[in-house]
Amino acid sequence: MLTLAIETSCDETSCAILKDGREVLSNIISSQIEIHKEYGGVVPEIASRKHIENINQIIQESLEEAKVGFDDIDIVGVTQGPGLVGALLIGISSAKAIAYALDIPLIGVNHIQGHICANYIEHKNLEPPFICLIVSGGHSYLVHVKGYTEYKLIGQTRDDAAGEAFDKVARALGLPYPGGPHIDRLAKLGNKNAIEFPRVMLEKDSYDFSFSGLKTSVLNYLNQMEQKNENIVVEDVAASFQAAILDVLVEKAFRLAKEKGLNKIVMAGGVASNSGLRDRMFEKGQEEGVEIYHPSKVLCTDNGAMIGSAAYFNYKAGQKSDLGLKVKPNLGL
Ligand code: KG4
Ligand code: ZN
Repeated sequence: MLTLAIETSCDETSCAILKDGREVLSNIISSQIEIHKEYGGVVPEIASRKHIENINQIIQESLEEAKVGFDDIDIVGVTQGPGLVGALLIGISSAKAIAYALDIPLIGVNHIQGHICANYIEHKNLEPPFICLIVSGGHSYLVHVKGYTEYKLIGQTRDDAAGEAFDKVARALGLPYPGGPHIDRLAKLGNKNAIEFPRVMLEKDSYDFSFSGLKTSVLNYLNQMEQKNENIVVEDVAASFQAAILDVLVEKAFRLAKEKGLNKIVMAGGVASNSGLRDRMFEKGQEEGVEIYHPSKVLCTDNGAMIGSAAYFNYKAGQKSDLGLKVKPNLGL
């Protein structure tokens, strides 16, 4: 079964062709990062305009690379939400047009489910149940994945997402957008014990996250150092900040796996490409007998293939949308 899938929820215009939900025939991604960089973050109006300009070309390229035509496609998947409303609309309109013209099923996909499903593409034998830690620019979730289409949201951020905290701290350090990869790189050169930043665990049994206090604490530290005219060692700030955020993510993910009696933890989302997070997860995984999975870098950040995988599993489970499918910018899991 061939799935054509479209992702336009934020600043990547992407279209992919998948065979049976796990095999990627093409995954064309046009990133707008260079354009938004100038503004220090994603500008929604510009994102929508760029999606319109790019989408037809990207769809065409995805078919060409997969060496298939529209007539070979069996189902169309598209991100329904969460995301930027104007950006989502471009993907949904294109997907509806294709589904209508070819008279094939249209499947609306939750973007967060897509991030989880990126792992099914990467790890051909991975099967639920497992715990998934989804950490991206817009979301931080701990999810109990019970089946391919069955998810229980256990914890989420109460303020900033993990990636957002990385990006905001990076910005304060004068690093370009998106800052996560720069912090990752600098953290390797710094001392993670140089500065004591808070690890906000919230209530004893809580699986929620809160990163805005940590971000404020870094900003306060930078201000104080500037006022005292003292030298700021960017590498030490990056390493100490990253260690604080990772301590919380790793602790909560393993605690949840233990509570649910599961020995598989799967990572997803842009921050899952953080090398420090991967190292820590694998180390602790070895200590505790827990298997750790994460997608390759290209499948961590937003892409059409992950949406195609989710659409395939949703379709198999009997889920189908109609041409009245609406964008849901605030869609939860
Ligand atoms: O999943 P994604 O592409 O988009 C959203 O759905 O939000 O995630 C982008 C986020 C950005 O905040 C970016 O800074 C972060 O992922 N990121 C990283 C790394 N690579 C990307 N954060 C930390 N370390 C990295 N290596
Ligand atoms: Zn995403």
